[in-house]
Order: sequence, then C-alpha cells, then structure tokens
Amino acid sequence: MTRPLIAAPRGSAATSAPHHVPVAVGAPIGTADPRLFGSFVEHLGRGVYGGIFDPAHPAADAEGFRSDVIALVRELGVTVVRYPGGNFVSGYDWRDGVGPVAERPRRLDLAWKSVETNEFGTDEFIAWCRAAGTEPMLALNLGLGDVRSALQLLEYANHPGGTTLSDERIGNGAPLPHDVRTWCLGNELDGPWQLGHKRAAHYADVAASAANAMRMFDPSLELVVVGSSNADMPTFGAWEETVLERTIELVDYLSCHIYFYEDDDLAGFLRSADRLDAFLDGVQDVIRRVRVRHPGARDVRISLDEWNVWNFRAYDDIKEERDFELAPRLLEQDYTVADAVVVGSLLQSILAHCDTVGIAAMAQLVNVIGPIRAEADGPAWRQTTYFPFAAMARSAGHTVFATNPTADSDVVTTVTRDPSGGAAHVFLTNRSTDTPAVIEVDLARFRPNRVDRAELLWHPDPHAANTAQSRVRVTRRTPTTVLEGGRLRLTLPPISWAGIELACSVDG
Ligand code: AHR
Repeated sequence: MTRPLIAAPRGSAATSAPHHVPVAVGAPIGTADPRLFGSFVEHLGRGVYGGIFDPAHPAADAEGFRSDVIALVRELGVTVVRYPGGNFVSGYDWRDGVGPVAERPRRLDLAWKSVETNEFGTDEFIAWCRAAGTEPMLALNLGLGDVRSALQLLEYANHPGGTTLSDERIGNGAPLPHDVRTWCLGNELDGPWQLGHKRAAHYADVAASAANAMRMFDPSLELVVVGSSNADMPTFGAWEETVLERTIELVDYLSCHIYFYEDDDLAGFLRSADRLDAFLDGVQDVIRRVRVRHPGARDVRISLDEWNVWNFRAYDDIKEERDFELAPRLLEQDYTVADAVVVGSLLQSILAHCDTVGIAAMAQLVNVIGPIRAEADGPAWRQTTYFPFAAMARSAGHTVFATNPTADSDVVTTVTRDPSGGAAHVFLTNRSTDTPAVIEVDLARFRPNRVDRAELLWHPDPHAANTAQSRVRVTRRTPTTVLEGGRLRLTLPPISWAGIELACSVDG
C-alpha cells in the first residue's frame, strides 16, 4: 500500500505541479575523507577575537575560549580547521603569537586593515582544536615570509624537545609536540591582492624549496601547494600547471578556493554547484596532465580549503572607508535559507568528487562568513548554513555512490553508506524556484529497514535568516518520509534541502 506523500508545506512558493524524480543508485565513487568536513579560522574581523576567543565573555573557559561556541563546533562535526589565514597569513610572523601574552607585540594587519594584538597564536589555536575535538591544519607565510621562518615554525610546533625552538614551546606550556600533520605552503599567492603575490614560476620555486626542507624534517607531513584563488582568475590552469610541474613529487594536495553569491539571480545562484563541479573537474584535469609527465609523481589530491557562499562585493564596497581597528565587524553575512540550500548542494558536489578531493574547508567558522555567530555579552547561534553542514558531516568516512539522475536536473541527489553497511544517508536539494519535487530513491540494495533521522531545510521566505534579533527563525523541520520495499519517498518544496539517515540490515 502506498501512503500519500506530503504536499508542499503551506506558504511554499510552489506554483507548478510537482516534478517526479525517480533516483537509482549506481556504482561507488569513493570514500568521503572525514577531512571533507573541514573549516577555517582566520585572524579576520571577529573570527578569533570575539568569536572562538573571548576571555571576557561569561561562557569563556579558563583559556578564554568560548565554551558555547565550542559546543556548537562539536555539534557541527568539523573535522579539521585551517589557521591562521587566509590573506592574513601572508603578512604574519608566527613568533609574534607565542610566548608570554603580555610581551606579545601589537601589529598592523594590512590584509584586513586591522590591529592584531597577538593574544591568540599558534599554541592557543592548537589548544582550542583539542578542546573542540578537531584537527589543526596550519598555513605558512610564504607571501612576505620566508622558508626559514616557516621551517622554524615547523620545528617549534612538531619537534619533541632538546632544541632552542622546541624547548621554547615546552617553556610556553606545551610539553608535547603539537604534531600538526597538514601544512599549507602559503595562501592565494596567485592573487594580486595577496601580500607577497608572486608569479607562478617564482612561487613554484619557493614552494618546492619549503616542501623539500619540510620533508627533510618529516617525510610523512602532508603538504598543500597553492592553486587558484577562484575559477575566474586569468591564470587559472596555467598557474596550476607551472606550480605542479615543479612540485608534484613533493606535495600531496593542490589547493583551490571558490565562493558564490546571489547577485540578484536566485535561479542561477541555486545552480552554483554546477560551477563547483566544473571547477573541481578543471583542477583535476591539470593534475592528471602533469602527472603523465612525472612518473615519480605523488598521488596529488585537491584541497578545496576555502569554499562557501560569500557576497565579497559587499566587502569591497566598505574596505577603503575604515581605520585600522581591533577585531572590526567584517564579513558578518546573515545567511538565508537559499544560501543554506546552496551550501548543502555544494557539499553534495564535494562528496561527488570524493575520489579527487581529499580536504575541503568551509570558510569560515564563527562570525566571519561562518555557520556560527557569537556576540560579546550575548549568545552564540546557528546560521542557516549550519544545518546542512552538520547533517552531512555525519557521513564522514562513508562510501559515496553515483546516482541517476545527476546534477543536470533541478534535483541533486547524494547517497552514502557507512563502511559497516548498517546505515545509509540520502541528501537532496531541490533547486527549482517554483516546482516541488516528489523524489523516490531506490535503496533496495542497501536493505534499509527504518528512517532514523530526517531533516528538511525550507522556509516560506527563501531569504529568511537567523539574526541576533531572531536567532531561531530558521531551523530543522521534519519532512514526511515513506520507506517501502526499499524505496524512500519524500516531497521537497522549491528551494529546499533534506538529509535522511536510514538504518540498514547488514549482510551475513
Ligand atoms: O575567507 C576570506 C578570504 O578569502 C581569505 O582570507 C582569502 O584567502 C580569500 O580570498
């Protein structure tokens, strides 16, 4: 017997008859590396000061970390966090941020026209990562900084002891090595806005020299070389080719960054994942081409270590008008339901590329274009973009399967299964602005026996957001699901995203 499907929720902008979408599960694509659910904390605006670190806040712990923010980060399921930038890192001297806090210098941060107190530095970040249950990924200053200084940070952080630098770390209260496994060899050095911006061949030499020396310290480190800052860079493709030609035997990841924003074209914005698919495929093509010429090449994967929805034009408009300030309010975007639907679909694109993408970091984490917002003397809350990320991070380590239809239609479907076979996840985006989708996913081969969890992100106003005045305007809804004969059915209203977890019978 077939139970009726839900109608589009009241107030939906649906204007057309529902679109029926039968979905078949195909072959496995690969495994979702847990580090696909990474994030990014930069010394920018109120990301660090007034974000993760705020000793004056009532919820601060003994180290000045906001415990309410840490609880939200844990719930979000963030597996790895890139730090300290971003554009900031290209002017940063890591030495300013270690040692007795009272002796740390105040500096101008030219990248974000701010004043940096250095109260929070490498040791604090590592301690914060441990408290938040996440792994650190450190970026090195290869902009205005040099390879020697980068190597000194590596020794400071990872050498057990018995040298001046490692003993300095011990003296600063960290007796055990920080054991940071993943290192970014600079940030966006292809961009003319970057402090220490370089031509590709120059950067390639610097990165190769850093990687070579870092491998002498520890051959097992994971190194990320800088790729393109976005898909529209005039050097996209050529930059990667030059840099990889020189470094493909030394590095493990090629970085790339991409941001999307609505810009008065909601329908086009909802299709952002198509552009991410094309970008990732373009980056992978270069890796493939260069690898053919290098028999000794490493198995270089993509590190999409900055991605998100970000209206960066709004920042461009205000940046010239400010003085140098301490932790100014910068890039504090109130994310809408449409933004969150796009974020869900971007994560689906990342999962669909799990055979070539090994690391992905949503940029950023708190206040600065982040899924979490926090106010001094006030609460922390979940932005709309928090919900799809938190649901999808629960599929870390799963096998991802191809599905049909694919992203050509309004509906984007992702199916994953955990390695034991006991659980399957289905993620769905309806990108149509006016047509509900009745989706039926044939999961019979996984032998699903019940829906354990189902959530829908939708709101009658696709531009609804959670703000300081209205922190829970948008939250998870529970969609009606029907599981029958191994088929999962549900209706997605226009501009919505859903995540479903199913318990499955394990073979044998
Ligand atoms: O995430 C904000 C900024 O975007 C980063 O500092 C930079 O790397 C990118 O351009």
